[in-house]
Amino acid sequence: MKIFLDSTDIEYITRLRPTGMIDGITTNPSLMAQSDKGFEEVLRDICTLIEGPVSAEVVVTEAGEMYRQGRYLASLADNIVVKLPCTWEGMTACRKLADENIGVNVTLCFSANQALLAAKAGAMFISPFIGRIDDTGADGMELIEEIRSVYDNYGFETEILAASIRNVEHVKNAALIGADVATLPPKIFEALIEHPLTDKGLEKFLQDWKATGQNMPIP
Ligand code: G3P
Repeated sequence: MKIFLDSTDIEYITRLRPTGMIDGITTNPSLMAQSDKGFEEVLRDICTLIEGPVSAEVVVTEAGEMYRQGRYLASLADNIVVKLPCTWEGMTACRKLADENIGVNVTLCFSANQALLAAKAGAMFISPFIGRIDDTGADGMELIEEIRSVYDNYGFETEILAASIRNVEHVKNAALIGADVATLPPKIFEALIEHPLTDKGLEKFLQDWKATGQNMPIP
């Protein structure tokens, strides 16, 4: 499963980049609003740091305007993927951008039918929002399962990008179901490595090694 960071925080992205595991970045207008820099600068900085797809969302709702704004966003860097909302206007713009080989990430997906339409419109990614479904009392993971089945039934190549991830269980379950990508807030990415038995085991290994009195070189 690919891992994207759901962030506009350049400091975090710079810090986590050396792990070699950041396959891409997703942004949205709410995340952009958290940055003290302008959106163009943020996008250019991110695209310099990360080679993989960087999703940049349009802020208009009419198909023609989404298409034009999408083309503009795509012109900012080679790895920009245009993020469009899952509406009929968005689907129309998606088809046009996809026909020009511009990658589209269809966002705000809350049903398997929406995901079916996005795939038919040529989306590169579909972003089901797991956490926001959980917030309603339903199970966001069921949607990931449904979309996986629909896409596998018909061989759609649109990648399932599990979004609105709120905890490490979401990540594990998305991977078990077979989501292609999970986009994580940086803190959730950092938490993936944590296990108390790892810490305990490491402490014991180092203690036992120290007791031998030997030195192991660090060339
Ligand atoms: O990128 C969109 C998505 O990940 C939003 O997450 O936590 O605001 O529902 P959240």
